[in-house]
Amino acid sequence: MARYAPARVVTNEDFEKWLDTSDEWITVRTGMKRRHWAAEDQATSDLAIAAAKGALTDAGLQASDIDCFIIATVTPDYLFPATACILAAKLGAVGKAAFDLSIACSGFIYGLTVASGLIRSGVYKRILLVGAETLSKIVNKSDRSTAILFGDGAGAVVLEASERDSYLAAELGADGSTPQTLFQQSGGSRCPVTHSAIDAGLQYIHMEGREVFKFAVTSMISATDIALARAGLDRHEIKFLVPHQANRRIIDAAVKYLELPPERVLVNIAEYGNTSAASIPIALAEAVEAHRIADGDVVLFVGFGAGLSWGAVVWRWHDYHSERE
Ligand code: UT7
Repeated sequence: MARYAPARVVTNEDFEKWLDTSDEWITVRTGMKRRHWAAEDQATSDLAIAAAKGALTDAGLQASDIDCFIIATVTPDYLFPATACILAAKLGAVGKAAFDLSIACSGFIYGLTVASGLIRSGVYKRILLVGAETLSKIVNKSDRSTAILFGDGAGAVVLEASERDSYLAAELGADGSTPQTLFQQSGGSRCPVTHSAIDAGLQYIHMEGREVFKFAVTSMISATDIALARAGLDRHEIKFLVPHQANRRIIDAAVKYLELPPERVLVNIAEYGNTSAASIPIALAEAVEAHRIADGDVVLFVGFGAGLSWGAVVWRWHDYHSERE
């Protein structure tokens, strides 16, 4: 496991210099204090590579030991080819399978499910899964309702075939009937990049915040309940909840319902803001680095985002260090 965040930090006070906003508003409404933004010459694959290299070192593996590279992202280097192809090549693993997974903030959770399925079915033995985003590149920096929310970063994990299965159960879902609730309108085939699209700012993230907020709380709670029931576990058996970091108030509402003590919930939103598909693996990597998660712990990942989409995965943490002893 490893993580990476760009060096440039943008604080709430920084926004006060060019937006009609305040540290107080941002802190109270979101729980965010800082976020990291990529440099002009840094693309998503650059962040992914930094996290991937750390994850490989942590696992004691070379890139050539990996059978398949997956990046969950909505801010790829290019619309095509897949950023995972670039990642694998830059790591020196040309020839291996590589693809991107585009399901926004639910990306890491969907990725865990896809990767676990590929490993369980015997297709691959080792998969490098990365959640990586450079949302600062697609946010309108003069729109106070979105500019303050998003940050850049990457988190990476190596998943390996094992006698002891980690993937206990999941609930994934999507409802694409209102894509405009949260989308980047221009750039695809529905609304190609044109001068008029750019003049209208359609290349930026558009979000109906209140709608997403309501959906977020209910979908997190129901996905968690369904996934836990499938795993045959009670919510009190969760050692750590790792929620997507979109808004502190959303996390708090879900945690209140789940009746989990605060020390069992991994929250780092103050430092990173919302990093979409990267938020869960970054939070997880921080906890692993701090030795907070022990072999055998039940970890519940839960997220939601554009799609609209949602997901929860119940995971039993098996450390490959102890696995290989
Ligand atoms: O990971 C992807 C999923 N995304 C999310 O989960 C985001 C979900 N939504 C949210 O987190 C919240 O809806 C926001 C943080 C985006 C907004 O918080 P809110 O409590 O829902 O505020 P609001 O949109 O209802 O806006 C309240 C007021 C408005 O002013 P009026 O109309 O009441 O005069 C906004 O214009 O706050 C204003 N406002 C701001 N004021 C100061 C909006 N953004 C700002 C700002 N600074 N940055």
